[in-house]
Amino acid sequence: MATKPEKVSVIGAGLMGAEIALVYAMAGHPVMLTDTSDEALGKAKTRLADILSKGVTRGHFKEADTAGTLNRIRPTVKMADLADSDLVVEAVFEDEKVKAEIWGKLDKIVKKGAVFATNTSTIPISTLASYVGPERRPNFLGTHYFSPVSRMKLVEVIPAFDTSEAAIATAFRLAEGAGKVAIRVKDVAGFAVNRVLHAFLIEAVRLVEEEVVTAEELDTACRLGLGHPMGPFELMDAVTNSLTLQAQAIMQDSYGERFRPRPLLKQMVQAGRIGRKANAGWRVGPGTK
Ligand SMILES: NC(=O)c1ccc[n+]([C@@H]2O[C@H](COP(=O)([O-])OP(=O)(O)OC[C@H]3O[C@@H](n4cnc5c(N)ncnc54)[C@H](O)[C@@H]3O)[C@@H](O)[C@H]2O)c1
Repeated sequence: MATKPEKVSVIGAGLMGAEIALVYAMAGHPVMLTDTSDEALGKAKTRLADILSKGVTRGHFKEADTAGTLNRIRPTVKMADLADSDLVVEAVFEDEKVKAEIWGKLDKIVKKGAVFATNTSTIPISTLASYVGPERRPNFLGTHYFSPVSRMKLVEVIPAFDTSEAAIATAFRLAEGAGKVAIRVKDVAGFAVNRVLHAFLIEAVRLVEEEVVTAEELDTACRLGLGHPMGPFELMDAVTNSLTLQAQAIMQDSYGERFRPRPLLKQMVQAGRIGRKANAGWRVGPGTK
C-alpha cells in the first residue's frame, strides 16, 4: 500500500456494502460509508462490530488486524462528503434507476481520477458506465464481490467498453491489498461465477423435481462429494429463491433455454417460500429438514 492509504467510499450499507467497507477498513483505508438514513448506517455498524467480534472468536480474523477497523469507517448520509475519494464502490439496490441516479450525482461530486466501481450482479457494466460523463468512463468498472464479503476472497473485475488498463490495475491493486483475489472477467450476463453457479443450481432443482434425491440429500452429497462448504439448497435459502429466480431469468434472456428457471423454483417463490429471510424455503421452515 502507498504511504498514504487511498480513501475508499461505499454507497449502500446493506448486506454487501457494509462488509465491503469493512474489508477496506481492515486493510487500513479510511472509509466513508453512506446510505439513505442514519438508522441504516447505525444498523450496519452494529452488524460489522458483531462480524468482527465473532470473526476473532472463530479464528477468521486476527485480533491485531481488527484493531481500529470500525473507527476507520465514517458513516455519512451526505454524498458531498465523498468528494475526496480515490475509490468509490456502489452497492445499492439492484435497480438500474437507483444506480443511475447515484452515479450521475457522484460524477458531479467526486474528484477526477477516482475509480468508480459498481457491485451490480446483473446490470451490464457498460450500461451503468453510460450514466457518468465520457471523461469519467475510463475509470468506471465492475467489482463483483461475493457474500459474505468479509470471508469470500474472490472479486470479479469487469471492464466496460471504455475502461482504461490503469483503472483495472488500480482495482486489482486495491482489492488484493484488502486480501482479495481478483480475476478479470468480460462484461457478459452473470459474469463468470454466476454462470457456472446457476447452471449447477438449475440442475440441482431438476434432480429434486425428478425425485432422484431430496434437497437434504443433495446438500449432503455436494458437501461430502464435491467439498462444497454448503449445498445448493442451503445456498438458495441463504441468497433467497427470489434473487436466484431473478438471476436465472436474466441469464435465460441472454443465453436461452439452458438458463430457464425450473418450475419448482418459480412455485417456491410464488408461494412466498423465498428462504431464510421468510423462514420458509428448501431447508428452513415447516416440513423441511
Ligand atoms: N446479496 C448478494 O449476495 C450479492 C452478491 C454480489 C453482488 N450483489 C449486488 O450488490 C448490490 C447490493 O446488494 P445487497 O444484497 O447488499 O442489497 P441490500 O438491500 O442488502 O443493501 C442495499 C443498500 O443500499 C441502500 N440504498 C438504496 N438506495 C440508496 C441510495 N440512493 N443511496 C445510498 N444507499 C442506498 C439501502 O438502504 C440498503 O441499505 C446489488 O447491486 C446486488 O445485486 C449482491
